[in-house]
Amino acid sequence: MEFFLDTANMDEINRIKKIGLVNGITTNPTIISKENRDFKEIIIEICDAIKGPVSAEVIGLSVEEMINEARDIAQWAPNIVVKIPMTEAGLEAVSILAKEGIKTNVTLIFSVAQGLMAAKAGATYISPFIGRIDDMGEDGIELIRNLKQTLSNYDYHTKIITASIRTINHLEKAAVAGADIATIPGSIFPKLWSHPLTDKGIKQFSEDWGNVPNTVKS
Ligand code: E4P
Repeated sequence: MEFFLDTANMDEINRIKKIGLVNGITTNPTIISKENRDFKEIIIEICDAIKGPVSAEVIGLSVEEMINEARDIAQWAPNIVVKIPMTEAGLEAVSILAKEGIKTNVTLIFSVAQGLMAAKAGATYISPFIGRIDDMGEDGIELIRNLKQTLSNYDYHTKIITASIRTINHLEKAAVAGADIATIPGSIFPKLWSHPLTDKGIKQFSEDWGNVPNTVKS
């Protein structure tokens, strides 16, 4: 499973990159707005720091607007993926961009039908938002399982990015369901390697080591 970071914050990106766990980055207009910086400048800085795919989202909603923005954004760096919203115009834009070799990530996917349409249009990635589905009282992980099965039934190469991850449980279940990628907020990432029993065990071992006689203590 690949791990993307769902952030545009360079401190978070650099911290987790150092450990060697970041395969790519996803952003959206909300994430970008938190940085209070120029959109293009942030994306180029991220693309320099992370060699894997970096998703940057278009703002326009018509086919023409999306295509013009996508063609521009795609020039910013070789590892750019253009994020396109899941609409009728978005699907048309994706199919045109796919023919031009521009990689796309179709965002705001909430059903198998939407994921299948995006794959058929030629999306490189699809982003089902599981946390927002859970917020509605439905099962986001069920969507990941069903999308995985559907894409594999027809041998689509579109990759599933599990998005809107809120908990460790989300990440674990997405991995079990076979999602290709999980995009994880910087605030949740450090929780993935933490466990209270690990901390308790380390403390206990240190204390007990202090009781071992004739040992060189470092
Ligand atoms: C990633 O591509 C999405 O934009 C992001 O995961 C959305 O997460 P949210 O539902 O917590 O805003």
